[in-house]
Amino acid sequence: MALTAFLEISHLRKVYGDNVAVSDFNISVERGEFICFIGTSGSGKTTTMRMINRMNEPTSGTIKINGEDVTKMDPVKLRRRIGYVIQNIGLLPHLTIKDNILMVPKMLKWDQKRMDERAVEMIKMAELPEDYLDRYPSELSGGQQQRVGVVRALAADQELILMDEPFGALDPITRDALQDLVKDLQERLGKTFVFVTHDMDEALKLSTRIVVMSHGEEVQVDSPEEILRHPANKFVADLIGEDRLIQAKPTITTVGQIARPAVSIVQTATLREALTLMHKTRVDTLLVTDPDGILRGYVDLEVINDHFRTADTVESVMNPKVFYVRQSAVISDTVDRILKRGYRNVPVVDNAGKLTGIVTRAALVDMVYDALGSGTSNDDGQDRSTDGPRTDIGTTDVKEGAHAVDPTPDDKEEVPANNGHLS
Ligand SMILES: Nc1ncnc2c1ncn2[C@@H]1O[C@H](COP(=O)(O)OP(=O)(O)OP(=O)(O)O)[C@@H](O)[C@H]1O
Ligand SMILES: [Mg+2]
Repeated sequence: MALTAFLEISHLRKVYGDNVAVSDFNISVERGEFICFIGTSGSGKTTTMRMINRMNEPTSGTIKINGEDVTKMDPVKLRRRIGYVIQNIGLLPHLTIKDNILMVPKMLKWDQKRMDERAVEMIKMAELPEDYLDRYPSELSGGQQQRVGVVRALAADQELILMDEPFGALDPITRDALQDLVKDLQERLGKTFVFVTHDMDEALKLSTRIVVMSHGEEVQVDSPEEILRHPANKFVADLIGEDRLIQAKPTITTVGQIARPAVSIVQTATLREALTLMHKTRVDTLLVTDPDGILRGYVDLEVINDHFRTADTVESVMNPKVFYVRQSAVISDTVDRILKRGYRNVPVVDNAGKLTGIVTRAALVDMVYDALGSGTSNDDGQDRSTDGPRTDIGTTDVKEGAHAVDPTPDDKEEVPANNGHLS
């Protein structure tokens, strides 16, 4: 373990005068992990993080990256190897967005073509229009600046990214989108994150392991699931909060465990084939995959009806913006996303993006219902009294389109199959 760890921190200590900011901090982080520090204000989170890239010098103890002691490395070079996002974003106001994004690649003397390409790639990743590259930070909204701040930390392809409460000041929708973005980068590109937050929901959603800190020491270092199941002491339990501990019963299940089979069609199929399948399986929306089973989009009855005479393949009319969850995700996150956005069903994919099933709103409601006990609330097991049948299509969220799919014929408590589309 000690030999293979990507980031190894041992007996780290930082003292300011007679104030001990970090007393004895230890952790061993594998490559590709997402580590969240959470704890009370003043517990040493920022100080610990800043010692990793030597913005602060340790009083004692060691930090090794790939076995190399950071205190023996040139701090400037070290910082170029580590992406860093601070709370107030830190975009330089007199530089364009492009120059801000390329700060580290420039220091590393990348050639111009590579930098130009990287700038475009990064602005796309931030889900902003390409011409924003020529703007100045003041010409962007706070949330847009924050997104640039996040992708800037990735521009030079650093393996390790430090983020200190990067999303604290954002509205919930932007925060959600950025959380999805960084989680995706960790899962897809294998980046390692050390992330400070004071938001337990954020920590539970993003982390592979959570580090709970108090008075300059780690109180518990565990997966979200373990922390919810077995808080080490009252301090951790209080931090999690009673509500979450109750909710934790459904949250420790993964999406994959409650997923059902999805009805899908390959993108090369004709509209007639799609219609036949819809008829046979009594659904109004089909998920579309490529020949390898990778989720590519969805088609609904309305689109097929509109294009039946003019279009040929499913691919030519499908909506590629499809909201999905990973089968390894914990339910708590999925409950939130589905209930908050009102989706009836959400497709489930594996790490390669392959469609493996769907998770239905009804199944989630059952889980919450079971967890809370049958005596609770006005929950009739259907939970759609407030928002009624939803088509879920055309949501304006920055990142996802959304869709409803109703592929299970026996799912009788679901809304009517036509879902209002053709009425
Ligand atoms: N430059 C400094 N000089 C003296 N004391 C400091 C300095 N920086 C931090 N401290 C002290 O070290 C302790 C840990 O601070 P740190 O910023 O790491 O906390 P934190 O966990 O990040 O808190 P928050 O959640 O409020 O950001 C605090 O008691 C703080 O007052
Ligand atoms: Mg701090």
